[in-house]
Amino acid sequence: MIVCNVEGKLVPPEQAVVPVLDRGFLYGDSVYEVVRTYGGRPFELERHLERMDKTARRIDLALPPRETIVHELQRTLDAGGNAESYARIIVTRGIGEFGLSPLLARGQNRLIVIVRPLVAPSEETYERGLQMAIARTRRNPPQALDPALKTGNYLNNILALREAHEAGADDAILLDLQGRVTEGTTSNVFFVQRGVLVTPPLALGMLEGVTRAVFIGIAREDGLLVREEPHGPEALAAADEVFMTSTLREAMPVTSLVFLESKGEQVRKVADGVPGPMAKRLRAAFRAYVERTHLRR
Ligand code: PDD
Repeated sequence: MIVCNVEGKLVPPEQAVVPVLDRGFLYGDSVYEVVRTYGGRPFELERHLERMDKTARRIDLALPPRETIVHELQRTLDAGGNAESYARIIVTRGIGEFGLSPLLARGQNRLIVIVRPLVAPSEETYERGLQMAIARTRRNPPQALDPALKTGNYLNNILALREAHEAGADDAILLDLQGRVTEGTTSNVFFVQRGVLVTPPLALGMLEGVTRAVFIGIAREDGLLVREEPHGPEALAAADEVFMTSTLREAMPVTSLVFLESKGEQVRKVADGVPGPMAKRLRAAFRAYVERTHLRR
């Protein structure tokens, strides 16, 4: 079931409330992570909490102690009682005196954990693959609101997703201001070019996905050449395969692209429009990694 933990109080979602003066609500002044469980235990929790630390340091938000976050997460997972869970860990800057300055809430925070039964993509979705729109909305440049920060401010991504849905696509890929591919709205992107696995470099401005890092690792272990290099969306359209990675999607094939910037909407198939072998093989290797590093320990 769905359980919310608001500052240590476990309640159903209808009773989970945050004051309207909370800066997370007012300004998106918060950080968050999404983790999922395999075998009932949170996967790569350390890496997620490291990323949360990094984001919190960059926005100068004081997180509760690590042990508190882990303990409250576990309590919430236990209360949820789900076979596999989705968990969202949120820390807002809490309430300060009214005003924009974060100094007004110095040292404050509010920890919230939301747990719900995991809803993973269906196997049919993996067999069909996604249609991704190349959004007109560009990814925030790192010099503005750095996309490497996982904060509660997701409007850049929401705008792109809205465009994708309007065009009938499943999700969107965002380009940077120079027209280079960055990432999806909640996932990272990979493509296969003559047997080489390519993904955009972090320096373009994107979230360093935990799943992205795991896939780069297992692909290299598998003997594949992995390159982090910038490309335009044409490279995706010309690739042998494209896939998205995230905590929830693992490695999800992309079988067509909708270019929203060209005159009209131009739909382009990726290769022959069906999922390719590499995404499937790497997803199997990923499942073996989960088994080896997480389930057997
Ligand atoms: N999103 N890029 C963005 C913008 C994301 O929000 C996410 C994760 C990723 C993939 O990161 P990871 O592999 O660590 O899940 C990339 C989560 C799932 C979410 O917000 O729901």
